[in-house]
Amino acid sequence: MSVVSPEAQQPPGPGTSCDLEQLDNKLDVLQSHWQQYGDCYRVASRTRSADTWVINHPDQVRRVLVSNHRNYTKGVGIERVRVLLGNGLMASEGERWRRQRRLLQAGFHRPGIATFFPIYVQQATMMAAQWRTAAQQGEPVNVSEAVSETTLLAVLQALFSEDLLRLQQEHGGNPFQVVSAETRRDLQFAMKFRALGKRVQEVVDARRRENRYPPDLLSHAMLARDKSSGTAMPDKLLVDEILTLVVAGHETTAAALTWVWYLLAAHPSVYAKVAAEARRLPVDKVPDWPILEKLVWIPRVIRETLRLYPPGWLYTRRALAEDRLAHWRLPAGADVFICSYLLHRHPDFWEQPEAFMPQRFAPQQEAERHRYAYIPFSAGPRHCIGESFAMTEMMIHLAVLAARIRPQVVEPLDVELETGVNLRPRDPLYLNFVAVD
Ligand code: HEM
Repeated sequence: MSVVSPEAQQPPGPGTSCDLEQLDNKLDVLQSHWQQYGDCYRVASRTRSADTWVINHPDQVRRVLVSNHRNYTKGVGIERVRVLLGNGLMASEGERWRRQRRLLQAGFHRPGIATFFPIYVQQATMMAAQWRTAAQQGEPVNVSEAVSETTLLAVLQALFSEDLLRLQQEHGGNPFQVVSAETRRDLQFAMKFRALGKRVQEVVDARRRENRYPPDLLSHAMLARDKSSGTAMPDKLLVDEILTLVVAGHETTAAALTWVWYLLAAHPSVYAKVAAEARRLPVDKVPDWPILEKLVWIPRVIRETLRLYPPGWLYTRRALAEDRLAHWRLPAGADVFICSYLLHRHPDFWEQPEAFMPQRFAPQQEAERHRYAYIPFSAGPRHCIGESFAMTEMMIHLAVLAARIRPQVVEPLDVELETGVNLRPRDPLYLNFVAVD
């Protein structure tokens, strides 16, 4: 009997072909295929000649995102958002991506991020006042809408600082409001959104005319120079980068905070720990890095939320050349999907994967876990540039709000998931709050 070496074989998979990215119930299909075929399987595409490989093991994730990342472009997932983001960081590839990443990176280092803490405090304090008023009037809060507005304002202030007010005055309101007001991400939205590039260019032109560069992300991007050529990024690319940061910095954080409040409302004992920690912080003082680094429960709750409901729930890549995944030979051109939602629930790496247990992010447990079993901000060179921005914004949001309001307990509802570009509840999340003193 001849023995076929595993190298020559293809991983298992359903016999029928389908384009996973076009399914409405992608997550259900990925979940049931995973149960049936395991951590690496293959689905033939209807429209492309190459297959889609779906991987759900941290070793394979490390291979694709980290150790052999140069072999992969972003693939089909990014095609949907390219019309929105142009050639901004999220959607660009190769040398252009590397150059742009270098130019933008310094704006996201610790000292830069700390300059945004007063913005986060101000946003959270305003939100707390609004939610307390709703609580006193016995009205429910549309949490999805509220956190969408506050995260949009936070990223806009970090980008444009004093010019945001100027834009609002000149245009009779916030021209970027559409980003939070409209939840659909169709072609119509894309056209309205791309038109906002004109507003960005207006601010850029005004700053140059007035030789005025306030300390914000836009100034950073305008003043950044390529180390080897000494040149700045062209205006068209600058506008794409700023629009990318508006979308990437707002929708993901808004989705995450919606899930945080949902989980806290369903787990009152965890809320109690968060609130106790929040109340120990100095009132009305803008925290600094050492204060944030001493927090225990607030970051654990956020990390556990991002485990259960990672906003960027599906990463797609396309192989440029042949690669090796586990003992399979991945052909050039194949698409590779990584579903962080399922990876974060892999029973080999997570005890009681469905349970909300922030204590699993204690340092000891984190150190024992496979590094690539948890990737809410992706991994490798293309990991999220805004991770610290988002984590500090969410920590400050929670620290300010949990000390002032308590969500009324809800049964762990079976919230329907919307698996668009980001993972969020399909319907707006409404919660009732109680004001606490
Ligand atoms: C909870 C909040 C956030 C989550 C969960 C998140 C998640 C992610 C993930 C998973 C990726 C990689 C996608 C991929 O590999 O296909 C990514 C990339 C990116 N994120 Fe975030 N993000 C968050 C907040 C932010 C913020 C606040 C900003 C900016 C202000 C930002 C800007 C970006 C950009 C520009 C990229 C592309 C980076 C590159 O390709 O070099 N994100 N994010």
